[in-house]
Amino acid sequence: MLEKKLRRLGQDHIAKLLESGAGFVSRSEIEKDLEEINVSLFQELMEGRHLYQEPALVRVKPVPVVPASFSASPEAGRYRAHGEDLLRKGRVAALVVAGGQGSRLGIDAPKGVVEVTPVSGKSLFQLHAEKVLALSKKYGRAVPLFVMTSRANDADTRAFFARHSFFGLDPEEVFFFVQGMLPSITPEGRLVLSRGGGLFMNPDGHGGTLAALRRSGCLDAMRAKGIEEIFYFQVDNPLVAMCDPLFIGLHNLKGARMSSKVVRKRDFDEKVGVIAEVDGKTRVVEYSDMSDDMRYAVDERGNMLYWAGNGAIHMIRRDFVESLTGSGLRLPFHKAEKGIPALDSQGNPVEIPGIKFETFIFDALPMAEKTATLEVLRDREFAPVKNRTGEDSLETSRAMQSELHKSWLKDLGVEVSGRSLIEISPLAALEKEDLAARAQSLPAKIEKDMYIE
Ligand code: UD1
Repeated sequence: MLEKKLRRLGQDHIAKLLESGAGFVSRSEIEKDLEEINVSLFQELMEGRHLYQEPALVRVKPVPVVPASFSASPEAGRYRAHGEDLLRKGRVAALVVAGGQGSRLGIDAPKGVVEVTPVSGKSLFQLHAEKVLALSKKYGRAVPLFVMTSRANDADTRAFFARHSFFGLDPEEVFFFVQGMLPSITPEGRLVLSRGGGLFMNPDGHGGTLAALRRSGCLDAMRAKGIEEIFYFQVDNPLVAMCDPLFIGLHNLKGARMSSKVVRKRDFDEKVGVIAEVDGKTRVVEYSDMSDDMRYAVDERGNMLYWAGNGAIHMIRRDFVESLTGSGLRLPFHKAEKGIPALDSQGNPVEIPGIKFETFIFDALPMAEKTATLEVLRDREFAPVKNRTGEDSLETSRAMQSELHKSWLKDLGVEVSGRSLIEISPLAALEKEDLAARAQSLPAKIEKDMYIE
């Protein structure tokens, strides 16, 4: 049966290994891996169908963006109030994609367990969970939290939440679901035997979120709860403005199906995707796919033309996910060449050149009839932890968190020494306005590190 399926996929070399009964091949692992592989999808991969195509630059132009200054306008108040109303009515869920490991940061654990806050050393998961808890309290209605994990970190992620009593959240309001896997192949189109005796597979990218929501039953759970809007974010950004009412209201009142927050790119070479318009449709052109002509394009005044960096924060309508996944959604596959740790036909460990496929959630943007793009300020909402040192590292992210909280205190008249690190728990204040309510209890002067809870 297993051998037959492998032969049908043109993978005789693995079928033969199974038949030979070699000790280094695991029938059960291969069976598990093959269950993940849909035959027609695999054939499409082999034939190079549904591969991401870089758009020709003549078709690309900057996307219309609602500027960050809009948030201070009277009109913004109307959108914010609408977003708050949706939160009060329980129409909004938070969804974090956390399928990645902290390997780039040198830890062999889910990235969400990385201790990220500047004074109390809270993990990313704790910080996000506390923001969700604070929101639920503020609006008097539970905001359910959906956590997407991967095969590699699902058990560890669930155990981490359980060990910490879900950081105060009601466990009934936290939903874990696992993203899918895609097989890596050799340039000749052969499946690869992994060191564990199964097939070499990789997580299907955060584009897998959509199908995984349906497969896991989470989409049904959302509908049953009356959720209409999904606030989507990446686990690596401690500054994320969780379920920002302005963003929710703007997206919802504009009738958008999927919306995005953007930050002004730091420089031409920053490793963020760019939101642009291609043939009238909103799209992200990922930094790794971008041509130099696009990367370095300038306007008539010599300013960066494609400055709208993808903050990886989206609003997505639940019924948009339902319609996409109900009709055989195929997001384009992004292809990456990389060395794969494998076993050769004798069972010796070897590193071979391979091709890895991934899908990206933002490739659903052009499928949305309507989208909205909102600019936000980097120092308020975007301090991702990507690297061990240098830019976008734990050090820069902690400093940015502290600077933001310091600015809240300073605005309330508190004197804060330049050297001290400041951290304000989301449970004390989700935003500056919440802190104003407890201004009386704040010290007049702060000279050392301080955690406000
Ligand atoms: C990502 C975006 C980029 C954006 C930047 C902002 C992609 C391809 N690019 O870049 O456009 O400007 O963030 O910070 O996402 N994840 C999963 N499962 C997967 C792959 C990723 O859950 O299979 C999660 C990771 O846990 C992580 C997030 O998605 O939270 C981002 O993935 P990563 O590979 O770190 O993307 P970046 O290169 O940082």
